[in-house]
Amino acid sequence: MQKVLVTGGCGYIGAHTIVDLINNGFDVVNVDNNMRSTTKLLDGVEQITGKKVRNYKVDLCNLEDTHAVFHENRDIVGVIHFAALKSVGESVNEPLLYFQNNITSLVNVLKCVKEFNIPNFVFSSSCSVYGNSAALPVVEETPLGEAQSPYARTKQMGEQIIEDFSRVNPTQSILLRYFNPVGAHPSALIGELPLGKPDNLVPVITQVAIGKLPKLTVFGTHYDTRDGSCIRDYIHVTDIANAHTKALQYLLEKRNGTNCEVFNLGTGMGVTVLEAINAFEKISGMKLNYELGEPRPGDVIAIYANNTKAREKLGWEPKSGIEDMMRTAWQWEVALRDRVLNN
Ligand code: WQD
Repeated sequence: MQKVLVTGGCGYIGAHTIVDLINNGFDVVNVDNNMRSTTKLLDGVEQITGKKVRNYKVDLCNLEDTHAVFHENRDIVGVIHFAALKSVGESVNEPLLYFQNNITSLVNVLKCVKEFNIPNFVFSSSCSVYGNSAALPVVEETPLGEAQSPYARTKQMGEQIIEDFSRVNPTQSILLRYFNPVGAHPSALIGELPLGKPDNLVPVITQVAIGKLPKLTVFGTHYDTRDGSCIRDYIHVTDIANAHTKALQYLLEKRNGTNCEVFNLGTGMGVTVLEAINAFEKISGMKLNYELGEPRPGDVIAIYANNTKAREKLGWEPKSGIEDMMRTAWQWEVALRDRVLNN
């Protein structure tokens, strides 16, 4: 059984990816310092797959501790690197925290990938590297715009670091640019666990609906879009997860053309904030308490993907539409409440 090392697997996308990797026959070990997560989602992974995933509670900014993990797992066929701080808003206020954490951890992981000759590396990147791209939908060759936040800049820098590393090392790499990951595993045993008040739209919607938050504010309704609110390419987290398995298989089967390739992971469908709210109201049968408010500084007006390259080269096919995303996000929120009530 081929073994994969995942970093940041206690997080939302990491945990869903571990489920998909196990379901596709891989053995997984995880590294996560739980700075912004707990091992709760790994418990959910075990309930879903029956597999207990070992977590090395290690700070990847500590090279010695990171090296020790690789030393103990020299048989891995690849690394999937999720571990990073990812709050756009926080990064604006704490740029040095973001550069120190996100860049140091990446460089340390790459140093170990090099020393232990790990053949394959998959990196968690983001649509935020495009900035306020004018040309929509964006393709992988779309020139990157000015990063709208230090978080986005750490993803742009991360991509460049890996490209430069790939020029002089045999490791084969893939950069996956996520659009807006939302929703939860259909079992409702894992999902998004924002610490504190969420920033992202879908957890705000479900927390308003369940009564944890009083109301949702729509940030801006006079943009030059079909209904005035921002457009995003929301993509189900299980589709994002499967793309990682497909990317690793693509490298393992040596189907890649060059040793550093980029892929957009979006549905190709742009959805406005108001349309997302309507989709939630439709699947939940609830009327959401929201108000129309001022634009949020730093927001991109519209972005959505051309995902042809991932479909054709990785054989990846996003399966869920916006209603499935809202349905599973809502089922997860209800499961969280019931678990609290029953414990
Ligand atoms: C979506 C839309 C808001 C909350 C970020 C990162 C991106 C990726 C996904 C990691 C926007 C609107 C939101 C609210 C609202 N993360 N909104 N009221 O900013 O598109 O993307 O998360 O890879 O890198 O940048 O996601 O969910 O915060 O916002 O109206 O209470 O919802 O204005 O138009 P965003 P988001």
